[in-house]
Amino acid sequence: MQVYFPSSFLWGAALSSYQCEGQNYNCDWYLWEKEKNLEPAAKACEHYRLFRSDFELARQLNLNSLRISLEWSRIYSDPDTVVEKEIAHYWQVLDTLGDFKIKPLVTLHHFTNPLWFMGKDGWLVLRNIDYFLKYLCKAVEALHEKVDTWLIFNEPLVYIYNGFIEGIWPPGKRSVSDAKKALANIEAAYIEGYRHIKRIYRNEGKTVEVSLAKNLRDFLPAPGVQKPLNCLAASLRSYLFNFRLLDRLAKRNCLDFLGINYYCREYDRFKGVLGEELKEVVGAGRKNALGWYVNSQSFYKLLVKLKRYYLPIIITENGTAEKREQLYELYLTNHLESVGRAILDGVNIKGYLWWSLLDNFEWDKGFWPRFGLVEVDYSNSKRRIKPFAHIYAKICKERKLET
Ligand code: BGC
Repeated sequence: MQVYFPSSFLWGAALSSYQCEGQNYNCDWYLWEKEKNLEPAAKACEHYRLFRSDFELARQLNLNSLRISLEWSRIYSDPDTVVEKEIAHYWQVLDTLGDFKIKPLVTLHHFTNPLWFMGKDGWLVLRNIDYFLKYLCKAVEALHEKVDTWLIFNEPLVYIYNGFIEGIWPPGKRSVSDAKKALANIEAAYIEGYRHIKRIYRNEGKTVEVSLAKNLRDFLPAPGVQKPLNCLAASLRSYLFNFRLLDRLAKRNCLDFLGINYYCREYDRFKGVLGEELKEVVGAGRKNALGWYVNSQSFYKLLVKLKRYYLPIIITENGTAEKREQLYELYLTNHLESVGRAILDGVNIKGYLWWSLLDNFEWDKGFWPRFGLVEVDYSNSKRRIKPFAHIYAKICKERKLET
């Protein structure tokens, strides 16, 4: 199959501050690693220091866009203190992207929160969203000249599920009612944040595109005698995890496009209110190094489902961690083929960003999963472009995929 992509297509990769910058000591993840005795992010990829050469690598790979995130806990050292040198740092980062003609897509919240914010019970308290909005306004006002695409939150449902239901991420809660409260507050912060960003650009006579990066999974019923009940669990999980928030934000007219992160499918069985993911399903297909059922048909299926929002789509993350190099290439080309097929079927997809530009810190898993186009040697921070990245670079240049 041959697929051609539009000339305006965004070809890129994504990064997040905590996972690659290093030396981030003022946020909840820093404390969590210590308390839980996890592998610490520590200096991570030293991207804070090496961003220029990292962007040079991105340019070498023919990428014309990069998704980065700002670290709230660097910008506000406490509720009232803006650290101007950190704003200046991100200005420099964005300026450098401009030098390389790489379009930035900027995330304001990618899972991490300042320690002082969590000390006030963070997202569990409605009035705390004002702290987030203060940061949002400060960052957007300071950096708007360099940015025309903002993502207010990364994957709110993943954050809520891991932090408030499973308790495997900070703040380590296991409570459905806390999860509901935090999600409602994040939704409120999004809606207010959207309005603020629009106002700031309107006052400058400029336009801006605002969204969030929403993780989507293909939820399938586990096979077996229980299948009818499992169908129920899968469709409930799909609604709650994939579509509920998108539906609510779309109804309020505060999505300019859909930022979509897609990795895998999952199999569910009926259990309790929320159903349960089954990690082992006989005959369910290939798993990646993290044990995720990777499947590009599922990606295609979800993309087609998104037509009903009548909004442009940017794939803000798609990627995998594998043990064998050839599997990266297979995953990349299969998933790009799904994007291409979806475009042919009338899905308005504007861009594709691989997760991630660099191997980086994979949260509770530490550094072993390697998602990068570029390998990082953590002993000396040296970079090496991986073979599959050259294949991606060729596709980006020719805007053509042959499978
Ligand atoms: C997150 C990233 C994470 C990636 C791989 C996405 O859910 O946005 O922070 O590293 O998945 O797990």
